[in-house]
Amino acid sequence: MSLDGMLPLVTALPDHLAGSERLLDGLSPRPAPAAPRRVLLCGMGGSAIAGDVARPFLARQGVDLTVWREYDLPSWADASALVVLCSYSGDTEETLTGARLAVAAGCPVLGIASGGELLARGRDGGWGRPFPVIALPAGLPPRAALGHGLGALLGGLHACGAIGSPAAASAAAVAVLREGVARLGPDVPENPAVRIARSLLGRFTVVYTTSPEAHGAGARLKAQINENAKSPAYAVALPELDHNDIVGWEVLRPRRDAFALVILRGGDEHPRTALRVAATLDLVGGEFHAVHEIGARGDGPLARSLSLVQFGDYLSCYMARAAGVDPVPVARIDALKARLRGGTAP
Ligand code: PA5
Repeated sequence: MSLDGMLPLVTALPDHLAGSERLLDGLSPRPAPAAPRRVLLCGMGGSAIAGDVARPFLARQGVDLTVWREYDLPSWADASALVVLCSYSGDTEETLTGARLAVAAGCPVLGIASGGELLARGRDGGWGRPFPVIALPAGLPPRAALGHGLGALLGGLHACGAIGSPAAASAAAVAVLREGVARLGPDVPENPAVRIARSLLGRFTVVYTTSPEAHGAGARLKAQINENAKSPAYAVALPELDHNDIVGWEVLRPRRDAFALVILRGGDEHPRTALRVAATLDLVGGEFHAVHEIGARGDGPLARSLSLVQFGDYLSCYMARAAGVDPVPVARIDALKARLRGGTAP
């Protein structure tokens, strides 16, 4: 695949989300409605991000979702919590470790995978009992399956009785994403994602996020810049960053040209945080080659979070194009997984 293999997948995000309802059709056995108020999502990388993006939407519905990027499980994961196991490949070892423990501990579990051991063991009960797994379309880079995975997560939580129907929120998100495709899809100089990509090229990107709706998009942008644009980035959240990050630039000031700042602004900013953005930029804006602000669009937390995700997805593809790198392969991730499986060392 090449850049022309990733860009259509970014453009397909609204279609993937819109079509995700169908993924629930084959859900077998159907999860028993349990109305869990606490949800633990075990996943890594491109499969975990659906949880970060869904968090503010779920919080509005009174559901506390914890994203667990670790081996094992937190001690509070018991029969009262729903454990959602997300692995696009179905073979990610951290997620499988949590999966086996959750099944053994009697937690209600729901899997989301395109194949692998997670899908197989859910169906055949090989870990002690069968559990429902939502099967995602196979053959995609995991991070390009976000629309499928997020739709499966929301639909699965609805099927489990954790939330009401996500249909209206999804439709609002799809509408804003379709507008985004028209605005951000064409590779033309007036496209803001193209313009910002050029300014980030060859630099270390720092991502500041201003509210819960933006925090998940910040984690996504960091990972997309890493994996698609093969470039370094980190993401850090307001208001916390005002208590440490702003002090950390002094020594690197002579190299300010090597750093660029992107601020992702959610629609749910606390008024004091909005004040902090201006004050923070007054203090640290000069430490960066360029500072770019991107505001969320649309109605409701899901639409707004996804509008920021989509901007970043396009941005990372345009960075890859400008850098002349192929956004699709993630050779080091593959090599690392192979080595830990006992295969070829990188
Ligand atoms: O984007 C990627 O390829 C990675 O971040 C993967 O998502 C991550 O390694 C986890 O794999 P999986 O999504 O198959 O569980």
